[in-house]
Amino acid sequence: MAAGKGTRLNSKRPKVLHEVGGRALLLHVIAAAETLVPSKEIYCIVGHQAERVEAAVAATGVSFVPQPDQRGTGHAMQVLKAWLELSGAPLPKHLLVLSGDVPLIRPQTLSALCEQHLREHAAMTILTAVPKDPTGYGRVLRRAAGSPEVTAIVEQKSLRPDQLAAPEINSGIYCFETAALFSKLDLISTDNAHGEFYLTDVAALLVAGGKRVVALEAASVDEVLGANTIAEMMHLDQAMRAATALRLMAQGVTIFRPDTCVIDAEVTVGPDTVIEPYVQLLGATRIGSECRIRSYSVVQHSVLGNCVVVRNGCILDRAEVGDGAVLGPYAHLRPESRIGELAHVGNFCETKKTTLGRGSKANHLTYLGDAVIGAGVNVGAGVITCNYDGARKHTTTIGDGVFVGSDSTLVAPVSIGDGAYVGAGSCITHPVPAGALAIGRAHQVTKEGWVAARRAARAAARDADQSGTQSPAHAIGKKK
Ligand code: UD1
Ligand code: CA
Repeated sequence: MAAGKGTRLNSKRPKVLHEVGGRALLLHVIAAAETLVPSKEIYCIVGHQAERVEAAVAATGVSFVPQPDQRGTGHAMQVLKAWLELSGAPLPKHLLVLSGDVPLIRPQTLSALCEQHLREHAAMTILTAVPKDPTGYGRVLRRAAGSPEVTAIVEQKSLRPDQLAAPEINSGIYCFETAALFSKLDLISTDNAHGEFYLTDVAALLVAGGKRVVALEAASVDEVLGANTIAEMMHLDQAMRAATALRLMAQGVTIFRPDTCVIDAEVTVGPDTVIEPYVQLLGATRIGSECRIRSYSVVQHSVLGNCVVVRNGCILDRAEVGDGAVLGPYAHLRPESRIGELAHVGNFCETKKTTLGRGSKANHLTYLGDAVIGAGVNVGAGVITCNYDGARKHTTTIGDGVFVGSDSTLVAPVSIGDGAYVGAGSCITHPVPAGALAIGRAHQVTKEGWVAARRAARAAARDADQSGTQSPAHAIGKKK
């Protein structure tokens, strides 16, 4: 169920596209479902901003069922029933219903729910939890304490005063015998505090019809918590990141002060890598083993090999970094930066759409954009590839073993052949052949004795100046 607006978020973005752990709520839920059934057997009920929601999860291959007007979770199931019946496909015997805003749900818990459902021969099996504060959730009422059997689910606003303390919440995740669920959907009404069709009303209807409704309490409370407000969303985000950090540490990654790090759910890190405090590892980032990621670095959608050192304050976005490379401090690797094995990109260096070959070094204050740089190249301090002519981008090509002197500007398109030298301070506008030395700067002029000569000339001028501007009084005094 992913059709709701998420009114309580006060956001333009549909609720199920809000992110926890760096990934949309709905993608988490689909990923959990995909561990049980192939994606084409997952029906995603979409309504509010349906196009946007569909676009965001289309790559998963799930089917979409439109619910253009969202009249409650019960209505979502009515729409699904009509859609399935119209499709003519044989109805599945059982249906696992997930809420698009309950993202921390674990595959193990879902399979436990399905197993219990089949074992109990239940018409409906409800996943529940007992959180510290159940306020806001629907409550699951058991036939007797300790009994698996449920008599009803009562929504928060419909709780009688004597039910307010009921501790067990409905997670919004259920297993149904499809025929039993579908037989009750026409009986639910909107006669309630929200004026919506409640799916939860089906529980009591099934019980009244002599069907078996049971509950399974989830192993951990966090995994069934919903995200209805930004504050709840951030609570889940924190829980998910804590779980991600624990998973990585269990795999041999050292994370100092994991509470200060922001690590997205999909990030992978190899063993013996050390992550210092205040590091962000985002999106589809993959980091090899024995790396060190120092504080205040932000690595996004990037792939790092083994034994890479990312010194403090680096920013990487869609970059690839080879084994043993050293970055930073304060290096900025923009998209399509490919840093070769053992290469160095140092202080205040920026790269974009640039390949830096094996063992090449750009250690200080450079901009390398749209450049293809070979192996063993030394890029001096302050070198700049002038890749943009105001209208188009051009490529700079640098061969193996080239030495580019400090403060040179390489005006693209331009190429420098293998082993060539560029003198410091050069402005290179023409190709430099392999093995050549290119110097593109004004000749130095040296004037020996110039400083003393100038000093003498100035002193003479001052004296002449003073004698010409004496005051009359001074002149008279002198006469005495
Ligand atoms: C629901 C349950 C409540 C439970 C809670 C757990 C009902 C009536 N109540 O309440 O017992 O404790 O979840 O999180 O079901 N949706 C649709 N179409 C609609 C309405 C909602 O697809 O017409 C989707 C929403 O996008 C959301 C999910 O269903 O992903 C749950 O809806 P929401 O409005 O958040 O239900 P709750 O009020 O949280
Ligand atoms: Ca909810």
